[in-house]
Amino acid sequence: MVDLDKIISLCKRRGFIFQGSEQYGGLQGTWDYGPLGVELKNNVKQAWWRYNVYERDDMEGLDSSILLNRLVLKYSGHEATFSDPMVDCRKCKKRFRADQVDPNEKCSEGGTHDLTEPRPFNLMFKTTYGPVADENNIAYLRPETAQGIFINFKNVLDSTNRKLPFGIAQIGKSFRNEITPKNFIFRVREFEQMEIEYFVMPGEDEKCHQEWVEARKNWYIRYGIKPENIRLYNQKKEELAHYAKATVDIHYRFFPDRPEEDKQFDEVEGVANRTDFDLSCHTKGGKLVLADGREFPNTDATNKLTYFDPKTNQHLLPYVIEPSCGVDRATLAFMMDAYCEEEVKEGDTRVVLKLHPALAPIKVAVLPLKKNNEDIKATAHKIKKILLGSGFRTVYDDTAGIGKLYRRQDEVGTPFCVTVDFQTLEDNTVTVRDRDTMAQERVAIADLKEYIAKRIGHND
Ligand code: GAP
Repeated sequence: MVDLDKIISLCKRRGFIFQGSEQYGGLQGTWDYGPLGVELKNNVKQAWWRYNVYERDDMEGLDSSILLNRLVLKYSGHEATFSDPMVDCRKCKKRFRADQVDPNEKCSEGGTHDLTEPRPFNLMFKTTYGPVADENNIAYLRPETAQGIFINFKNVLDSTNRKLPFGIAQIGKSFRNEITPKNFIFRVREFEQMEIEYFVMPGEDEKCHQEWVEARKNWYIRYGIKPENIRLYNQKKEELAHYAKATVDIHYRFFPDRPEEDKQFDEVEGVANRTDFDLSCHTKGGKLVLADGREFPNTDATNKLTYFDPKTNQHLLPYVIEPSCGVDRATLAFMMDAYCEEEVKEGDTRVVLKLHPALAPIKVAVLPLKKNNEDIKATAHKIKKILLGSGFRTVYDDTAGIGKLYRRQDEVGTPFCVTVDFQTLEDNTVTVRDRDTMAQERVAIADLKEYIAKRIGHND
């Protein structure tokens, strides 16, 4: 399996992902998605939205603000608890996450580190709104998209007339001031999440939790991840977030070069049972109760976040199951799983990204066999237009010989290359080359749209 270094090099070389603020030496924990990266990431998000919102009958969508009123994060418990233990080295003045630094590691100032006792470090990015920057107008950049869903629960419920169970899905940016961002886009300070808060009757939560774990695992497999590269991990009690009763993490083999197999896997998604914790905290007259016993009665909320159960004629606080996936980590997993180096013939190796066609940044490349023949070029441009009409991201390329053009497209995962040649001018057919088998088939231009559409499907 490919290691992270090869993916990082491919991403830079072919324009998937670049270091954020690279022009000025970079900004740690930020990455910019280039021409192909933005297409791939958009396709991952679309595949997620399609599977979790469009293909189900019990889901609604939302796009809430990134900037949050400080009170949201006060009553969610993030102000008090969303922190990592951190240590400082007294010699080199560097700061580390306590669980990620080896005290015997060499210090740049000589000897080993001289570490302080661990102290909590809040991971939220704070800012101020309006013209005066003071304590009275503090806002936070959201550390998870989830809170925007909880505070809109009543708005969505009232405007859609939903009955339990139903869910709200959201995709968007989240921000965490990670102490040690690392491993490319795996741990960063600005990232995207795809989250669902699925509201159920209390008592139905545990069964529903298991169903979501299965559904989410199947999504990765549907879009091309090999089952042997996915594992489920039940969080231990001491690992659970402050809001969770149980969490099953979906792990992917992000680090295949680590000698111990267990250490090769890390989290791409968490599926948590959040009980009624969040709605209880945010509801008018509710209360945040922390594990250490501290209580914060909610005297600021404006609405009750309850559900009226027509069967019992009672108002209640639903329980919540939350599948929470990182877009960047999922994108990385799809790339790693798709990467292959294949010996085409002796001494000739090709790099190919065998991405699911629905995820591929470019669906079709239209390539004229002769770039100095005006009729061939004009026909190729016409075919590109026809395919764009079906919404396929299609590119035209005549900047190299056909062999080189095929390899370029293989490396970025383009499932089909359409070649226009002299025969095309005579009988209106083209060659369609399959990325994975490299087999070529003659197809009539009139049938091309349908031929490609059939093979780009979402496996549903
Ligand atoms: N709302 C629940 C929640 O945010 P989480 O386990 O902290 O739970 C969910 O985050 C997912 O978001 C993770 O599984 C991961 O894919 C992604 N994620 C979290 N922190 C990240 C970071 N610093 N960089 C990249 N992705 C991150």
